[in-house]
Amino acid sequence: MQIQRIQLQQHGDDRGMLIALERDRNVPFEIRRVYYLFATRNQVHRGQHAHRHLNQLAVTVRGSVTFLLDDGSGPVEVVLDDPSQGLLLGSMVWREMYDFSDDCVLMVLADQLYDPADYITSYDDFLREVSGSLYGVDVAAC
Ligand code: TYD
Repeated sequence: MQIQRIQLQQHGDDRGMLIALERDRNVPFEIRRVYYLFATRNQVHRGQHAHRHLNQLAVTVRGSVTFLLDDGSGPVEVVLDDPSQGLLLGSMVWREMYDFSDDCVLMVLADQLYDPADYITSYDDFLREVSGSLYGVDVAAC
């Protein structure tokens, strides 16, 4: 599931819209944590890290944001601007977020509790680790 955009089923009627996020039905992992970013300042870049083990699902509940994503095969930009779309980010994906709209509320579901030890905060380290894992080699052990 490295990087995948998914369409979430909307339950709408003349009162408005509702989307449910449920383990296994549309979230392919056990949800252990939910956090959300809001009131993000203009020009701010957030993220700038990868996770060794964490799986996440990001949804812009409101507003828009641009992700720069790299799973080791090169950077791609993804714009999230629709609350009915989710962005699945598997482990070992470098991510940066920017161009937050003033009203952006970016909600993230995660399969692990917050653990600073799971972060890779250097892009060079990420490239080294991801190229090692591509070949099944644990570079940290070399
Ligand atoms: P940070 O990792 O810098 O956010 P981002 O990668 O989106 O730019 O997190 C900001 C602060 O919030 C930092 O002090 C760690 C803390 N934090 C938690 O306590 N729990 C969490 O689940 C997350 C994601 C961050």
